[in-house]
Amino acid sequence: MESFWNQSTRPRMVLAPMADVTDAAYRRLIAQVGKPDVMWTEFVSADGLYHTREIQRLPDAENPLMRDLAYTDGERPIVAQFFGSKPEMIAYAAGPAVTLGFDGVDINMGCPDRSIEKQGAGAALIKDPVRAAELIAAAKDGALRAGRPLPVSVKTRIGYNKEILDEWIPVLLAARPAAITVHLRTRKEMSLVPAHWELMRRVVALRDAAGQDTLVLGNGDVRDLEDAKRKAVETGADGIMLGRAIFGNPWLFTGRTHDDTSPAERLAALITLARYFEELTPPKHFQILKKHIKAFVSDFNGAAELRAALMATTRATELAARVVEYEARTHTATRR
Ligand SMILES: Cc1cc2nc3c(=O)[nH]c(=O)nc-3n(C[C@H](O)[C@H](O)[C@H](O)COP(=O)(O)O)c2cc1C
Repeated sequence: MESFWNQSTRPRMVLAPMADVTDAAYRRLIAQVGKPDVMWTEFVSADGLYHTREIQRLPDAENPLMRDLAYTDGERPIVAQFFGSKPEMIAYAAGPAVTLGFDGVDINMGCPDRSIEKQGAGAALIKDPVRAAELIAAAKDGALRAGRPLPVSVKTRIGYNKEILDEWIPVLLAARPAAITVHLRTRKEMSLVPAHWELMRRVVALRDAAGQDTLVLGNGDVRDLEDAKRKAVETGADGIMLGRAIFGNPWLFTGRTHDDTSPAERLAALITLARYFEELTPPKHFQILKKHIKAFVSDFNGAAELRAALMATTRATELAARVVEYEARTHTATRR
C-alpha cells in the first residue's frame, strides 16, 4: 500500500522508540529543533489498552496508556508502537491508532524485558514465527476494520540466542510489513556487545531476494548523523534508526553532535523540555526527567554540582530557577 514510507527519500533517518525518553515532551522538542524522517511512540501494551478501555471502562482522558499515545502534528509522520502476543489484542490496538490519526502501527518484536517476554511478546516472538506473522496480519485487519488502512512495521533483533536472519527475516517478509527495523543484536546479547552492522547487508539481500518493497532499517550504536549516513551507504539499508544518540542532543538529526552544542544551549533546551513535560505528560513523575538531566548537564565546569541541584527539583519553574542561579554565578550566557 502507498504510505509515508514510500514517499520519503532514502535513506530515512528515524528516531528510535525509547520508553520514558522519547515521550511526547521530548518528541515535541526534537520536532522543533531537528526533526527526523519518522518518529515512534514509546511502546504501549495492546492488552493493556483493551483492558483499560473495554473492561475497566476508563475514560480516554484518564487513561495513562492513551496518554502515552498523545502526540502533536509537528511530529508526523509518527508511528504508534504496540507490544502484545494475541492477534485479537493487536487488532484491537490498531483501532485507537486509526482514530488518533497515527501514520502507521509498529509491533515490538525485540524487547528483552522479562515482564514483556512472559506475555509471549517483544523478543519472545522471535521464537514464535507463526504468531509473529499473525500479529502483522491482525494489525492490518484491525486498522482496516477501524476505517483506514495503516502501514504496519516491525522492530526486531537478529535472533534470540543466536543470529537466525535467514529464517526470521523471510517469515516477517512473507507477512508483507511496510518496514522492518533490525536492532543488530540477538536477544541474548541485550545491548552488551557492539551491534553487528556487518549483518545489515544480509538483511537487505534477503529483502531483495524476496522481491518486495518492504523497507529495511538498521539500528544499534549509531553515534551521529554522519555515522548513520555512512552506515546507510555501506550496507544499502533504506534507513537508519538512532536511539541513545538523542540523549542530551535534540539537534541530532540536523547533523550536530554533542560537542557542537554549548552548555548554555543545552540548559535552555532542558528548561523547554521540563516545561513540555509538565504540560504534556501529567501525572508522570518529574523523576523521569532525570535521565535527561544527566545527559543535558554534562561536560562543563560545575556540571556535577548543577546536576545534583536539578535532580532535587520537582517542577519546571524550580528547575529553571536553579539554572538561572547557576548562570548568574558562572556568567554563562544562555539563549532562552
Ligand atoms: C531507555 C530505553 C528505552 C527503550 N524503549 C524501547 C521501546 O519502547 N520500544 C522499542 O522497540 N525499543 C526500545 N528501546 C530500544 C531502542 O529503540 C533501540 O533499539 C536501542 O536503544 C538500540 O539503538 P541505539 O544504540 O541507537 O540506542 C529502548 C532503549 C532504551 C535505551
